[in-house]
Amino acid sequence: MIYIEKRKIDHISRLVHDYSGIVVERVTSRQVEKKISDQMSRFKVSNLDDYISILESFSHNPLAMDDLIADLTVSESFFFRNPGQFKYMLEVLLPEFFDRQGFQFPFRIWSAGCSRGEEAYSIAMVARKFQNQFAEARFSINAGDINSRNLQMAKEGVFCKRSLRDKLPEFEEFFGFSLGRCDESGNCVVNEELRKMIEFQRLNLKNLQSLKCLTGSDIIFCRNVLIYFDEHLRSLLFEDFFKYLNPGGVVFIGESECLPPLDIGFETINYKNSYAYRKPLLKQSK
Ligand SMILES: C[S@@+](CC[C@H](N)C(=O)[O-])C[C@H]1O[C@@H](n2cnc3c(N)ncnc32)[C@H](O)[C@@H]1O
Repeated sequence: MIYIEKRKIDHISRLVHDYSGIVVERVTSRQVEKKISDQMSRFKVSNLDDYISILESFSHNPLAMDDLIADLTVSESFFFRNPGQFKYMLEVLLPEFFDRQGFQFPFRIWSAGCSRGEEAYSIAMVARKFQNQFAEARFSINAGDINSRNLQMAKEGVFCKRSLRDKLPEFEEFFGFSLGRCDESGNCVVNEELRKMIEFQRLNLKNLQSLKCLTGSDIIFCRNVLIYFDEHLRSLLFEDFFKYLNPGGVVFIGESECLPPLDIGFETINYKNSYAYRKPLLKQSK
């Protein structure tokens, strides 16, 4: 491992922040030096200034930056993390939406910061269960992440026992269908039908222009991602979530995260001790 002066680490941290909104000290305070060294070997660069020049070219060549971010961030996720939010979706949001709109429009869901896809496949399972009851219900499920390695794994849909927290039999019993094909060691390949329900794409939440893809969403899952960002970016994101959600739509955030201290207009919903932030329905004119 090479020695890296603090001011150079600070410079790299600023570049990471400019590109992704990630505050490096929040992600990992230790091992930054080691991770930078590893990345330099990976890109076969021995001079730190050359490596910094490569990072600086992120606007037209984000490969090195993407890879560094993949190393710096934690991609930990698992199926049905915070199960109350999925219950709220199944028991309240879906019945209300289709009661209100009929079956003409799809219910649109985004998993923003989807990691390797555990969240998006959990959403697809809920949608599929609802369709077992109401076959006409249609869904549009999108999922995005800044980390291309995660996205590749999400598309492949292969999950180890850890991602399932050993609860697969429980899930399958509740949903009444299988997630996919599992081998003896408990690794599971998600079946084609569920895979086809999700569109995975690259998404950088720092790039507010690119968030227009969230327009018309009924649910935005943005869980355990906002912790990486500073308050300013979090506030801008919440304003955009509010703007892009349909009336009656909700945002789910991580259990340990909280809304920025701004009155954007969200109503706080507490459903069986799980929280959601809801954009009010438009008032009916008399
Ligand atoms: C801890 S995982 C959360 C996964 C999932 N949402 C959950 O709650 O289980 C955080 C994810 O946020 C992603 N991320 C970090 N910064 C991002 C950004 N600027 N835009 C999009 N995704 C980002 C990381 O790549 C990582 O996959």
